[in-house]
Amino acid sequence: MKASMRSRQEPRRVSNGVIIAAMLLSLCVLSIVKARYCSTPFAKPDDQLQEQMNSSIRMETDEPASMAAGEQEEEEEESTGGGGDAVPAVITTTPAVVGAGSKGKKPTCFMTSKRSERCEATGDIRVEGTASTIYIGGIDKEWKTKPYARYHDPVAMAHVREFTLKPADESTPACAKNHSVPAFIFSNGGFSGNLYHDYTDVLVPLFLSTHQFKGEVQFLLSGLKPWWVNKFILFFRQLTKYDILDIDNDRDVHCFPRIVVGATFHKDMGVDPARSPGQVSVVDFKRSLRHAFGLQRAAASRGGVTGDGKPRLLIISRKNSRRFLNEREMAQTAAAMDFDVRIAEPDQHTDMSTFARLVNSADVMIGVHGAGLTNMVFLPRGAVLIQVVPFGGLEWLTTVTFKNPAKDMEVTYMDYNVQLEESSLLDQYPRDHQVLTDPYAVHKQGWDALKTAYLDKQNIRMNLDMFKKILQEALDRLPPV
Ligand SMILES: *[C@@H]1O[C@H](CO)[C@@H](O)[C@H](O)[C@H]1NC(C)=O
Ligand SMILES: *[C@@H]1O[C@H](CO)[C@@H](O)[C@H](O)[C@H]1NC(C)=O
Repeated sequence: MKASMRSRQEPRRVSNGVIIAAMLLSLCVLSIVKARYCSTPFAKPDDQLQEQMNSSIRMETDEPASMAAGEQEEEEEESTGGGGDAVPAVITTTPAVVGAGSKGKKPTCFMTSKRSERCEATGDIRVEGTASTIYIGGIDKEWKTKPYARYHDPVAMAHVREFTLKPADESTPACAKNHSVPAFIFSNGGFSGNLYHDYTDVLVPLFLSTHQFKGEVQFLLSGLKPWWVNKFILFFRQLTKYDILDIDNDRDVHCFPRIVVGATFHKDMGVDPARSPGQVSVVDFKRSLRHAFGLQRAAASRGGVTGDGKPRLLIISRKNSRRFLNEREMAQTAAAMDFDVRIAEPDQHTDMSTFARLVNSADVMIGVHGAGLTNMVFLPRGAVLIQVVPFGGLEWLTTVTFKNPAKDMEVTYMDYNVQLEESSLLDQYPRDHQVLTDPYAVHKQGWDALKTAYLDKQNIRMNLDMFKKILQEALDRLPPV
């Protein structure tokens, strides 16, 4: 496809030019036809572009665009560095730590993935929060770490406070409070506040890293924002019996028998049961959430909540970008197909419990790619998630963010690829503009260019026939009554 487009742009001059020109013209017509009617009209990005994309995947945040400067992947050197400075007197207990320790590089701290470093120590641990310092008895080397699972993304990490693990000595401050349970330090700096990042960067890794304490763990939260804690307080209560400490501002020196700084990260909004303590999966995470928010419904059905009524369609609405321009017509279409239709728009101020209950009542959820789709964590088993993929060769982005995670969540995933005719981009650019003809060339210019062209300024007018078709397919895939 890409090749044919290119040959269209650089026609070669040969003697029988007329024939060539005719061939090119038909190629050209073919490529336009294909571009219009095929779901993925562009060649796959090459590895280098893929890697650049992988490191820059993020939902839009409230940060000013200028913040998104240094976008280059910043590889952590730790896996190769370390110089074999084995740190004595630190006992590692979880299987994951033992595994990493056996490489003999960094017994206390290691990268659980490209995303997250986890440090662990037992013994005489003293945390002086206001100085972001953790004194550890028996080690002889200082280490600095940031407890947020987005190490590959310098923009996010710039907003995460760094903690220093220091060898304890005579000058180490005395304990003001002694705790008998382990401490776990994490941060809600970075991009949290955006629902997708809340789950991907913080909550899923937190669950994976702390559920095995069965509530006997003291959370120390850096960058604590009260509204953020309140939003997820019911979930935190599933993981800890103790109130969360605002570690940046707590003036007391807190002492613990054991500490873990930073969470383990497996994959975007996912858990690999084979590598998780207790072999938990993301289904267990969902169960914990359901329990936290008191959600009754375990399974979706063609008969809706009651089992003998209508299935419920939840349309996730957006206000600013990637809006459905014909939302009302969509709702009417779905209602005519005997769906019980709800339209809702989650935002930062949405009450989690209320929204969670609404999502849990849905059998089919549809929305344009965006943080709102993260609410799929509340969907009952067997529900269908339809991700509407905006025009612009964004499959790589929509796959990593929602398609792959959905698989593990017992949610039936479908995507709906927006055709150019359904996109407001058609009104903004001439037909031969690069934004319409060669999205990957735009992606190559970096995340900001991609975001500006395809995410910030695109709205969608769903083709109602196509919409009907995908709803019918969703219905067919719902568990029967
Ligand atoms: C990008 O991420 C995808 C999905 O996580 C992965 O399959 C792929 O190998 C990655 N590509 C590169 C070049 O890092
Ligand atoms: C905490 O424990 C240490 C060691 O057992 C003890 O010396 C200290 O007095 C205790 N501090 C408080 C405030 O209980």
